[in-house]
Amino acid sequence: MITLRSVLYILAFALFIYGLMGLTGPRTAVRGNAIAAAGMAVAVVATLLTPGLGNWWLIVLGLVLGTVIGVPAARRVKMTAMPQMVALFNGVGGGAVALTAWVEFRETTGFQGEPANVAIATLFAAIVGSISFWGSLVAFGKLQEIVPGRPITIGRLQMPLNVLLLAGAIGCAVAIGLGGTAELLIVAVLVLAGLAGIAVVLPIGGADMPVVVSLLNAFTGLSAAAAGLALGNTAMIVAGMLVGASGSLLTDQMAKAMNRSIPSIVAGGFGGGAAAAPAAIDGTVRSVSAADVAIQLAYAGQVIVVPGYGMAVAQAQHAVQDMAKLLAEKGVAVDYAIHPVAGRMPGHMNVLLAEADVPYEQLKEMDEINDEFTRADVALVIGANDVTNPAARTDPNSPIYGMPILNVDQAKAIVVLKRSMRAGFAGVDNPLYTDPKTTMLFGDAKASVREVVEELKAL
Ligand code: TAP
Repeated sequence: MITLRSVLYILAFALFIYGLMGLTGPRTAVRGNAIAAAGMAVAVVATLLTPGLGNWWLIVLGLVLGTVIGVPAARRVKMTAMPQMVALFNGVGGGAVALTAWVEFRETTGFQGEPANVAIATLFAAIVGSISFWGSLVAFGKLQEIVPGRPITIGRLQMPLNVLLLAGAIGCAVAIGLGGTAELLIVAVLVLAGLAGIAVVLPIGGADMPVVVSLLNAFTGLSAAAAGLALGNTAMIVAGMLVGASGSLLTDQMAKAMNRSIPSIVAGGFGGGAAAAPAAIDGTVRSVSAADVAIQLAYAGQVIVVPGYGMAVAQAQHAVQDMAKLLAEKGVAVDYAIHPVAGRMPGHMNVLLAEADVPYEQLKEMDEINDEFTRADVALVIGANDVTNPAARTDPNSPIYGMPILNVDQAKAIVVLKRSMRAGFAGVDNPLYTDPKTTMLFGDAKASVREVVEELKAL
């Protein structure tokens, strides 16, 4: 039967999907987010229309608490702290699902008289939701530097421990499925799954956390969808599957852009550990002054700026935009080459450059810009390293061999701004720095770009 509730749910789902479509580009992303949020508000209203809903005061209290905590936190968070914010909010979703599963267990005294599919879906939601909650908390702690970012592991015993914890959680769930009604069983499921979440995330290096957060996000979506199946709530099924699917796709895209498999990321031990050691470079490195760089840029026809993690560290984006404006006034065409995993979180460069009001049309994705490097007079690399490393194309022994990179080495001239000869995230040597076409301007990226700006003004 068509009810107002089902119509509202369909409207909410349409808004979710339309909103998600908006997230495919920076120009429409803010609107897409608002549309999906409106969809969620409609879904909440539809759920509140459920007959015999329960204690209204508790529901209102929950809504008020969520709003009072969530809105100011989201408004105040710094762009650079976004991954840990996502980790926390995502974790809370997983935790809510795990608690819902516990409540269902109590209400039905261990699923007595419930069909098997309800018990299985709820127990699945309990395990995955608890892994997601506790794993996300550790990811938050690492990103916020409350927990050390380096891999924390007990060595060779780590994997057997992880398997044991997960097997324990599944074993207790099976015991419930076979008729166990003791509350201790569901508590054991939640605790063992939570410990598994912690044990899996602790050995992963801090810099890999954005990928882990995305993976856990997919887990939360799946657990919510399973809880929706158990509760017969269509909104939870649809929203959960959308989160699960988009989180899985994002994780897969990030892993592909780094040329690493998801299991290898979860296994940890790559980058993000101790500070990268200076790379062993063969050949001559040519250092230049800001004045030389300014002249080179001012007389170029086309400049491609390649931002990376160092631009984020230096917070150089506003200085970079000032420089690009000056160059445009001098008739130089400026574009930005955006690598999908430049920086340390998805869309890191887009967000920083949007904050500095760089026009969206100047931001070019890797596939779009890679053929243009051969025509560029200068590729200006600002704090990027791995995403420009030609060894990824040419050296089968390199740990990043096969990772798609920006074809910076094909530009007529290359200028690299960084502080030293240290390696980037992957800890590998970058032969770009000894390319005869390359010159290096050493120093903090913001200070260097500011100097170039002053020199450009003086020309
Ligand atoms: P990186 O390879 O990490 O290189 C960044 C470079 O910036 C460093 O070599 C560093 O050299 C320089 N730098 C740091 N602070 C600086 C400052 N204040 N001023 C100037 N330069 C500074 O960065 P990338 O090229 O953006 O590549 C990203 C890496 O992170 C990839 O390996 C990617 O796989 C990985 N990763 C990405 C993500 C996502 S989702 N984006 C998630 C996890 C891991 P100096 O120390 O010499 O200055």
